[in-house]
Amino acid sequence: KFIMKKYLVIGNPIEHSLSPKLHNHWFEKNNINAIYNKKQINEIDIKDIISELRNEKINGINVTVPFKQSIIPFVDELSVEANNAQSVNTIYKENNKVLGHNTDISGFELAMRGKNYDIKGKKIFILGAGGVVPSIILALKKMGANKIILSNRTKKKAEQLKKNFSDLEIVDWGKFPEFNIIINATSLGLNKEDEIKLDYADLGPNKLFYDVIYNPKQTKFLSKAKEFGHQTENGKMMFIYQAHQAFTLWHKVMPKIDEETIKLLD
Ligand code: ATR
Repeated sequence: KFIMKKYLVIGNPIEHSLSPKLHNHWFEKNNINAIYNKKQINEIDIKDIISELRNEKINGINVTVPFKQSIIPFVDELSVEANNAQSVNTIYKENNKVLGHNTDISGFELAMRGKNYDIKGKKIFILGAGGVVPSIILALKKMGANKIILSNRTKKKAEQLKKNFSDLEIVDWGKFPEFNIIINATSLGLNKEDEIKLDYADLGPNKLFYDVIYNPKQTKFLSKAKEFGHQTENGKMMFIYQAHQAFTLWHKVMPKIDEETIKLLD
C-alpha cells in the first residue's frame, strides 16, 4: 500500500520559508510519494513534534530560526557536524534513534566553492551572532580562512561564540575592521528598507559582500556594495545546498540543482 511520507520545516516565523517549494519540486522530479509542509511552532511544541517523528507520523524535519540550538536536548544523537556547531537543521530517524544533523556547514562551503570564492588566507568579517553563524564559522575555518572577526549588536552574544571559537576576534557593533569578505548574518535586510550603516567609500576595492538572506534577492547591503564595484552573493545557493543534503540523506536520492531549481526560488 502507498503511504505518503511527511516532511516539515519548523520555525518562528516560518511564512517566508521556501523549503516546501524546493522539496516538493524535487519530490515531483524524482517520483517520490511525499509531502513537505511548513509549520510555525513555539518552543513548547518541540517535544510533541519530535514524538511524531519517533512514531513515524513525520519522516523528516528541517529546523530554522530560532530553534536550531534549542532543539538539541530533544534528539537522541547529534552528528559530528551538528555537535561542532551546536546547531541542528535536519532531523531524521535511523536505527530507532532520532538524529540531529547540520547541513548548513556544507551548504555554505558548497556555495563558496561553487562560485570559486577562495577563502584560503582571507580575512572575514561577520555581522551577527544568530543561529546560522557557528555553521558559517566552521565552514570558513575548514576552507582555511586566515582570520575571522565578528560583530553583533548585542555584544554578549558575540562573546558567547568565543567560548566555542577561541580565535574569533570581536569588535563593537558599528566598527569596521579591514576585511576581504564581509558576511551579513543578521536579519537586517529581510525588510527592504533595512540598512546596515557602513562607510562604503572607505572600504577599499575588491571585497566580497555575502548576504545570508536570499529573500529579498538583493538587500541594500548587496545593492550598495555593487554600486561600489564589489562582488556580491546572496544566500540562495547556500539555502539550496543545505536542502539538497537533507533531501539526499532522507531519500537516498540526489536531486538535480539545475536552472529550473534555481529559478524556482526567484
Ligand atoms: P537568533 O538570534 O534567534 O538565532 P537570527 O535571526 O539567527 O535569530 O539572528 C538575528 C541576528 O540579527 C542577531 O545577530 C541580531 O542581533 P542581536 O543578537 O543583537 O539581537 C541581529 N539583528 C536583528 N535585528 C537587528 C538590528 N535592528 N540591528 C542590528 N542587529 C540586528
